[in-house]
Amino acid sequence: MATETDILQELGSVPSLWTRRHLLGLEELTAEEITLILDKAAIFRRVLDRGGRKIAALTGKTCCNLFFENSTRTKTSFSLAARRLGADTLDFTASSSSLSKGETFIDTAKNIEAMGVDVMIVRHQTPGSPHLLSQNLKCSVINAGDGAHEHPTQGLLDIMTIRQHRGSLKGLTVALVGDILFSRTARSNIWGLKKLGAHVIVCGPSTLVSRRWAELGVECCYSLDDILPRVDVLNLLRIQFERQATRPFPSVREYAHLYTMDSERLARAKPDVLILAPGPINRGVEVTPDVADGPQSAILDQVTNGVAVRMAVLWLMAGRT
Ligand code: CP
Repeated sequence: MATETDILQELGSVPSLWTRRHLLGLEELTAEEITLILDKAAIFRRVLDRGGRKIAALTGKTCCNLFFENSTRTKTSFSLAARRLGADTLDFTASSSSLSKGETFIDTAKNIEAMGVDVMIVRHQTPGSPHLLSQNLKCSVINAGDGAHEHPTQGLLDIMTIRQHRGSLKGLTVALVGDILFSRTARSNIWGLKKLGAHVIVCGPSTLVSRRWAELGVECCYSLDDILPRVDVLNLLRIQFERQATRPFPSVREYAHLYTMDSERLARAKPDVLILAPGPINRGVEVTPDVADGPQSAILDQVTNGVAVRMAVLWLMAGRT
């Protein structure tokens, strides 16, 4: 079994290719930077598979989860990733903070930073919030989801999972299905997948898939049944009822009839089609339980890869000194 010294040796030092202080989106990353994160994440995934031993790569660093929206996967896996690297972690809870006394978002973040934080991991319902903090803080800022804009580490872990199962992204056809309009995961996936050479289809009801998405270089499609025979990967996005002012389709039953990935549709897809879902999933809406829990699903692999990707991102951001 590899020792901590072996792992640190394999990691090496942060490459000169990585010069960024913040990770705000996949739109601004190059293919080389994305590949670097994925390569380092693959090392961390091997560490996790061998029992998740701790590596003292970020000893003395402090990472703060500054979350203004609920989260299960992202917040927990950032905390685990930081701890696995030997960093200290801090969780900020908006509902019990002095925001209720009128303190501003920026003042709140600056005060937490002043306690000695090296990396601020930010989730906020308003697009651009992490970008605003990156202009006002000295520490590194990671976007953990800003409204319907971007969720870069989700995009990275989705892409890592595809690469793990298929070897390469080049030439693959990846369909993002469902609530494209309100999805930060869709945007991060599109930027990342296209940079690594995949063909991307966005598929869902016309109220959730505007033809303007084609301007991002993706194919727009409104029938899941039409694309099933030619897709290599289906990433099933949650219908985000909480972001929708009005229901974008007549009923959930009608949506399910047209877009739920079930065993009957799976039988009409490529035999080795890979099923992904960023989570949380609405069972029976985006995907039926037999498909979500079936042999072609990599949904829990995505979650494990989430820890590895976040270890890689934290190491690149805070591992330089
Ligand atoms: N996929 C994702 O971002 O999940 P959480 O909202 O639980 O973090």
